[in-house]
Amino acid sequence: MVVLVTGVSSGFGLETVRLLSQEGHVVYGTVRRDVEPVPGVHYLKVDVRDRKAVEKVVGQLIEQEGRIDVLVNNVGMGIGGPVEFATEEEVREQMDTNFMGLVYFVTAVLPYMREQGGGKIVALSSIGGVMGLPFQGFYSASKFAIEGYCEALRLEVQQFGVQVVVVRPGDFSTGFTASRKKTANAEAMRVYPFYAESMGKVERDERGGLEPQVLARKISQIIRKKKPRHGYVVASLEQRISVFLKRLLPACWFAKILGSYYRL
Ligand SMILES: NC(=O)c1ccc[n+]([C@@H]2O[C@H](COP(=O)([O-])OP(=O)(O)OC[C@H]3O[C@@H](n4cnc5c(N)ncnc54)[C@H](OP(=O)(O)O)[C@@H]3O)[C@@H](O)[C@H]2O)c1
Repeated sequence: MVVLVTGVSSGFGLETVRLLSQEGHVVYGTVRRDVEPVPGVHYLKVDVRDRKAVEKVVGQLIEQEGRIDVLVNNVGMGIGGPVEFATEEEVREQMDTNFMGLVYFVTAVLPYMREQGGGKIVALSSIGGVMGLPFQGFYSASKFAIEGYCEALRLEVQQFGVQVVVVRPGDFSTGFTASRKKTANAEAMRVYPFYAESMGKVERDERGGLEPQVLARKISQIIRKKKPRHGYVVASLEQRISVFLKRLLPACWFAKILGSYYRL
């Protein structure tokens, strides 16, 4: 299969292209900086916030391969801090990278998938796309946006044989934690003194989280499945239970549980 994975310089993207390439797929990966190449992977350079650049790299792939079977939209970053103090620039970077980047790629690949009679779009959401995570409010908002967009998209494109799958990882140990842009606003720290402790807990959970190879194996399975589920939660038992409880419990009960977990 011809597979395009976005954001393959580290973490899930890197492990996914490694595995898919070993499995014999024709693998394209996007990066925005020079990286140590993985054998067999074709690299495309793009910042996903640039719509024209996204169209161009998808065009290059089509020129080479004549088709695209799978898009794995993996690129993502996070901003951390009290929502009250996030700057407009930070919010735009968050939404442009995580949400608009997905929109640009889907819009670019869909005409080809429709024409060839099918394809698969795998979108990386998060368990933060199912529940609003304190001090990661705009990250959660970007992932909630992905969830709503994919739910609608799935219904619109099913008639063309295009499948849409949402993957919701829990805590994983990747480059994500170090790349998070945390507020350094002194006033934010003063007004929300519990923010630092809460964010410290988030980061410890991520650093001690699952290895990204686990997620790569799940993506490989999804790609091979004829009829994949609409969504997959890939997380520790505790986090899978939290997703289950979020769906089951009255909102005010769940908020109590989540708040006490983050010591709020
Ligand atoms: N790790 C977790 O615990 C976790 C949990 C839930 C969901 N996720 C989601 O999983 C996905 C992958 O994250 P990861 O954990 O593998 O993190 P990661 O190691 O930081 O990888 C993120 C990738 O996205 C790329 N990227 C970021 N902004 C970009 C931009 N504007 N244009 C092009 N590429 C850009 C990065 O490239 P550079 O190296 O150039 O920055 C990197 O290749 C994200 O969507 C994230 O939200 C992660």
